[in-house]
Formats: sequence, C-alpha cells, structure tokens
Amino acid sequence: MRIKHTWISSGDQSVCLSIMAAGTTNALCVLVMLLGVAAPPTAADIPVNCMYSDLLGSWRFFMTRAPGARFSTCSDQAGSDTTQEVIKLQSPNIAIDEHGNQGTFTLIYNQGFEVEVAGYKWFAFFPFLESNGTVTSYCDKARPGWVHDVMARQWSCFYGQRIDPPANKIPLVIAHHSSKRVPRQLFKNNPNIVNAINRIQTKWKARQYPEYHDKPLEMLEKRAGGSLSRLLTPPQSAPVTQDVKRLAGSLPETWDWRDVNGINFVSPVRDQENCGSCYAFASMAMLESRLRIITNNTEQPILSPQQVVSCSHYSQGCEGGFPYLIAGKYAQDFGMLEEAYCPYKGVDAPCQVQPHARYFVSDYQYVGGFYGACNEALMRLDLVNNGPVVVGFQVYGDFKYYSSGVYHHTGLDDAFNPFEQTNHAVLIVGYGHDATSGLDFWTVKNSWGEEWGEDGYFRIRRGNDECAIESIAVTATPIPQLG
Ligand SMILES: *[C@@H]1O[C@H](CO)[C@@H](O)[C@H](O)[C@H]1NC(C)=O
Ligand SMILES: *[C@@H]1O[C@H](CO)[C@@H](O)[C@H](O)[C@H]1NC(C)=O
Repeated sequence: MRIKHTWISSGDQSVCLSIMAAGTTNALCVLVMLLGVAAPPTAADIPVNCMYSDLLGSWRFFMTRAPGARFSTCSDQAGSDTTQEVIKLQSPNIAIDEHGNQGTFTLIYNQGFEVEVAGYKWFAFFPFLESNGTVTSYCDKARPGWVHDVMARQWSCFYGQRIDPPANKIPLVIAHHSSKRVPRQLFKNNPNIVNAINRIQTKWKARQYPEYHDKPLEMLEKRAGGSLSRLLTPPQSAPVTQDVKRLAGSLPETWDWRDVNGINFVSPVRDQENCGSCYAFASMAMLESRLRIITNNTEQPILSPQQVVSCSHYSQGCEGGFPYLIAGKYAQDFGMLEEAYCPYKGVDAPCQVQPHARYFVSDYQYVGGFYGACNEALMRLDLVNNGPVVVGFQVYGDFKYYSSGVYHHTGLDDAFNPFEQTNHAVLIVGYGHDATSGLDFWTVKNSWGEEWGEDGYFRIRRGNDECAIESIAVTATPIPQLG
C-alpha cells in the first residue's frame, strides 16, 4: 500500500511551498504547482508518512476549476482560477466549515485524509519530496485531490494548506533507502527457519512453499502489500468503551461467514499473482460477501480487481492502495463491474472495461468511525452484524512460511531471505477460540490462491492487535441490483 508519484519534485516548488506557508493565495504558486506535477514522476515509490495530529487545525482548501475532475488524476488539472474554503478539523473527528456546519474527517492510514462537511467530500494525499534517498513529508499540505458533493454529481480538484497552527518550519524528513535499492536476491526456502518456527512454538505450523523458491523476494513482498508499505508508526487499536464491551459480550462465541447454519456467504479464494493488488482483492472480497449476505445468496457477483488496478485514481495499480479508498470511496464514486467485464490480468494494463451495470456502496468508514477508533470488539460487532471486514496487517518474514494454526509473529525472521516488513490487505470472515493452542483467533481470507495456508485462509491471534490487525479495519455497505 503506497503512493506512486511524488508531487513536489523540483526546487521551484519549494518556493511555492514557502509562499503557501505564508497563508496567502498566489496565482504564480498555483501555476508552479500545476506545472510541477506534470514533471515526470521519480522512479521510486515512497510512502509519505503523516500522522493524525498533523491534521488537527484549520485548513484552507483551494478549488481549481476542473470540469473533468471526476475522471482526472487532478494532479494535471490546468487552470489558475480558484475559490477557497476554510475547514477546521478538531479531535476526535469533527470538521467545521466557515459557516459553522459540522461534519467529520478521518486520516487515511499515514497517507491522506477525507473530510465530509456540508454535503461535500474532500479527499487528498499529503505531498512529499524525495531527494537523494531521503523522503520529506509535507504533512501540513494536501496535494491536488478531489472534492465532490455526496451524491458524486459535482466535482472539482483542490489542494490544501493547513493555516492554523501554521506550517511547520521543518517538515518531517524520513531517511529512506528508496530508489537506489540494490538488486534483491531470489527467495530460497530456508528449512532451518521452518524447523525453528515449528520447534520454538506449537500455535502454528510453518512449511516450505516450493512454488516461491527462486522467485524474487520483491515479488513475494509485492504479494504482501509492497516492501515500502510498512508504517513507521504503526496504528494501535482504540480502548473499548463500556457500551461496546456490553454489546460485544452478547455476540456468539464463534462466527464464520463460510458456515452460518450450514450456509456459505463468502466468495471463492482468488490469487492476486505477481501484482501488488491485495488491497483490490480484499476490498472486492468484502463487497462480494456482503452482497451475498444482503441478498441471502441470490446475488453472487465476482467483482473486478483489475478495474481497480487499471482505472482507479485513488490507488496505485500493482504498486498498492488502500481498502478505505477502494471498497469504500472508489466503489461509491465509480461503482464496481463484475469480473467478466474487466477480467484480471495481474499487470498495470490500460483501463479497458465493457459497459455494464455496476455495484456501488452506500456507506463506508473505518470501523469505529475514523482512523484510530478501531478495536477488536467493534470489529466483531461489525463482522457479525454486517459481514466480513477488510483489514491491513503487518507482514513479517516468518509469515511467508505459514501453513496452519493460529499465527503470531515469532520474531524468527529469515536472515537468508531478508524480507522487508509490509502491510497486507486481507478479509476477516470469522473468529473463534482454538482449544489446541488456547488462543482466540480471527479467520482470514487471503488472496494467494487456495493452495496457500488453510485452503487459502489463515488464522491469526485475536485480542492483542497482533501485527496491527485490530487497528485499521474498514466496513462498507454494497447496494445490490434492483429486482
Ligand atoms: C547524497 O547522499 C550521499 C550519501 O549519504 C552523500 O555522500 C552525498 O553528498 C549526497 N548528495 C547530495 C547532493 O546531497
Ligand atoms: C435464505 O436462503 C435459505 C437457503 O436458500 C432459505 O432456507 C431461507 O429461507 C432464506 N431466508 C430468507 C429470509 O428468505
């Protein structure tokens, strides 16, 4: 899960940024910004890394006149005419506009934000600059993004600047190994690690996967979300309130959407292949399953991850993306085609779709209402009441040997196959308690084929935010077809 292009990529834009830092609108600045983004993107895919606290305060949003905004990347919108709006973002998730209208906002991972107030939704990523192996994040700015009314009828592009508290004099700089990565080695199954994992603990079993032997490590990392997708400051699950605790206390001891009184509401396991599209597969898997639940299995569409990879401007194709922006925002704004109208290719192919009825979503949010509000009890409540929930979790080197049982990170990372920690999107379909290991677990659908793990699924320890899996769950409500 990561961003593809740097927005600020030349010295000229530093000028622009300092002008914006003074809190003034400046036509020249806008022009420089717009020209600047047309410059070729840098070769590397580098995540910006901003935090919730960076969002708090007053923001000035500048709308650019952009008739084609809906189908545009917004970064290449020409035109210097702008109107402005000041929106104040307050803890925990309150957005207030100039007229006093109150709405909501959320951080999106460490990458961007979405604000909804007075009938409009604003979404943008934070800008960043990569230079000489160092990434600078500008967390008090929004690079060009999209604003549209909640009915998705009127669209414009906008960019933004936090004006109070004023811009940081010193932006966040993250030393990063980035573009000049040494060529990585091929993955070799390491029986010593497999044996060690199986020796030091009995909760889960490791095995070798011959099909990954001699494949580039980068490919394995890509399947797990991309090597640069890890969070520098992983999120944490929120405290459980008394009300939530009471509600969750009346849920069943175990749950599995593959078997609700003998009926399966989960679509088949798929294989994302060598494309960093886990976020698209996990998002589609949630919508597919929830459509089955809503229609009592009378509608069972398989939705198109390739549409997301090829057509979505809210994600980065085979380089990654975020379930909030796909299962939620993209599906709401553009709707999802079935697989047959945009079949999976597993590469960054051009956007080619056959026109057909699309599946939209009516609501979406981070479980708990906003990023940072999620916890295990809320996830179980949403899971049982609404259907499977899409999550991200941190993948460590031992996970690629998972075979069966209840996974927890053993700390046995494989020195022969230095695997960079990634963030992988998957779908939670159930939960329970494993008598053998004595552990509570989540049952999770992966997108690495049916041969992997427990028939394409894995279980992971539940209740202790294992690998951050209880901190960034997303829920969305798909709309079935009429009749
Ligand atoms: C880039 O980084 C290298 C290694 O840290 C350093 O030796 C070099 O001077 C830097 N170059 C510039 C232009 O900052
Ligand atoms: C849902 O489908 C099942 C199996 O086809 C059926 O037995 C059940 O009556 C249906 N439920 C409702 C509410 O229609």
